[in-house]
Amino acid sequence: MRTKIAAANWKMNLNFQQAKDLLDQILASHVHPGPGKKAVFAVPSPFLRIAAKKMKSQDNHHVCAQNIHHKKSGAYTGEVSAEMVRSVGAEYVIIGHSERREYFQETNAMLAEKINLALESGLTPIFCCGEPLQIREAGEQDAFVKKQIEEGLFNLNAMDMMKIVIAYEPIWAIGTGKTATSLQAQEMHKGIRSVLAAKYGNEIADSVSILYGGSVKASNANELFSQPDVDGGLVGGASLNADEFVAIINALQ
Ligand code: 13P
Repeated sequence: MRTKIAAANWKMNLNFQQAKDLLDQILASHVHPGPGKKAVFAVPSPFLRIAAKKMKSQDNHHVCAQNIHHKKSGAYTGEVSAEMVRSVGAEYVIIGHSERREYFQETNAMLAEKINLALESGLTPIFCCGEPLQIREAGEQDAFVKKQIEEGLFNLNAMDMMKIVIAYEPIWAIGTGKTATSLQAQEMHKGIRSVLAAKYGNEIADSVSILYGGSVKASNANELFSQPDVDGGLVGGASLNADEFVAIINALQ
């Protein structure tokens, strides 16, 4: 059975008080992801510590960094390392979000370095992939995503590949209110799994959780998560509302 995950990506939102309030509201709802299910909170770096403290006594709740630097340590003013975020309680890290790729020129080669550092530090990477609109319109999304996966992940050995979570986030669906249909998500997730199977075999491909991201909301989570290859979601805007995100956690199947 693959782990089912509802992951919140708060992006660059909220101040410290608002962050604490939102976490408290979510915990007050007594949402209990059952066995094999997880609620993951990718909060901004300054809030990792408090989030980790609040989640510590909660089963199946985990804290996630939104990014790490691709070097281990050193003279990189303003950057945050894998070891730093792990040492304040993060257990997951988002690697290669499309906003990082686009606004910070992160390449697949850099992302491969980040993945290695994350694994070395004991973090579970959530590796993001997904095509822009013009690629989807040209019908080239499968080859585009395959290349991201090959360049970002395929230097991993089989043991490490099993530790990866993948998030498929079509860029045209992020923050646009335009969700991929559950069929589009299922097709791509199935395709990603077959790319993994061709390299690592069926057993490993079947063990990797593949999340869908892009305008996931309480109102569409059930339908998306009902697809056989959709193992949960990576949620931006809707994760900033406690009721919405709790409903999304409860939609994990
Ligand atoms: P939205 O849910 O706001 O579309 O964002 C998706 C996303 O980028 C999650 O990482």
